[in-house]
Amino acid sequence: MNEMTALKDPMVPAPFRIERVRKELSDTFTIDLVSAERRRPLSFLPGQFNMLYVFGVGEIPISISGDPADPETVVHTTRAVGSVTNAMWKLGVGQTIGVRGPFGTSWPVEKAEGCDVVIVTGGIGLAPLRPAIYQIMANRAAYGNVCILYGARTPEDILFRKELEKWRGQFDLQVDVTVDYATGRWAGRVGVVTKLISRGGFDPHQTVALVCGPEIMMRFAVEALAERGVPNERIYVSLERNMKCGIGFCGHCQLGGDFVCKDGPVFGFDKIAHKFAIQEL
Ligand SMILES: Cc1cc2nc3c(=O)[nH]c(=O)nc-3n(C[C@H](O)[C@H](O)[C@H](O)COP(=O)(O)OP(=O)(O)OC[C@H]3O[C@@H](n4cnc5c(N)ncnc54)[C@H](O)[C@@H]3O)c2cc1C
Ligand code: FES
Repeated sequence: MNEMTALKDPMVPAPFRIERVRKELSDTFTIDLVSAERRRPLSFLPGQFNMLYVFGVGEIPISISGDPADPETVVHTTRAVGSVTNAMWKLGVGQTIGVRGPFGTSWPVEKAEGCDVVIVTGGIGLAPLRPAIYQIMANRAAYGNVCILYGARTPEDILFRKELEKWRGQFDLQVDVTVDYATGRWAGRVGVVTKLISRGGFDPHQTVALVCGPEIMMRFAVEALAERGVPNERIYVSLERNMKCGIGFCGHCQLGGDFVCKDGPVFGFDKIAHKFAIQEL
């Protein structure tokens, strides 16, 4: 948890008002929240998450997907998969959500200064990485080559499409997008995102890799990065586990000796490589 800026009691949700709701994809939406108390900023580090409480339904962990430079607006991008996420999507502007956080570890954005950065992500995995991309772009000169390698199921499933196009158009980073299945007029790449790693424009000897997506994608991504020569200690992955408290009390998210809510969700791969070897982690 970021001690300087977290809400006062980590177990008591603070009321946040929904300021904007955007449909991103057929099953995915983004909500902008502002503190209902005093427009209190909620500073966070890229990769951290909040526990979001839909009153009367339940509480779930969702990564923060907004810009760390704008802590007054707390942004979350969510795929509707079950009871809480679907109830959240039904809420409208002006309604209130309970927020606890921010919790968890962050992407090593500052540690990566002076290095190349490769971001490998699939599906909604781009959402927890977007704050890291914003921070890197705001301080672009501090990094070497920056590559964003993104995979979606179909062209209709490409998240933050306009931003990906904008970033690609800036000429100071490589953005490669691929889909599993081409539909409509798609003339771009087809195939799994991990295939893009072999020709990503980064120097493996001075690269930090940030990886987030479905578990199977992360396994293959880590393998492909290792084949390129990126050492485990410069590969970072973000893990998901069922969570209740979000602060290391209840044990719900335990993974061996680690609590994903407190020791993660972002882990240096060298710290968890042995656990990653277990199927269906
Ligand atoms: C640290 C962390 C960060 C997360 N960040 C995000 C985020 O930024 N955006 C986001 O959309 N989700 C994120 N998640 C996942 C999110 O918490 C779950 O999707 C959510 O808890 C599901 O709650 P529910 O009540 O809607 O679904 P439930 O009613 O609990 O589940 C309904 C059905 O959906 C399935 N299901 C549950 N979770 C998932 C999932 N992740 N993917 C596919 N199927 C699932 C269940 O197996 C079940 O069959 C994050 C999880 C963690 C641990
Ligand atoms: S969610 Fe309670 S210990 Fe992690």
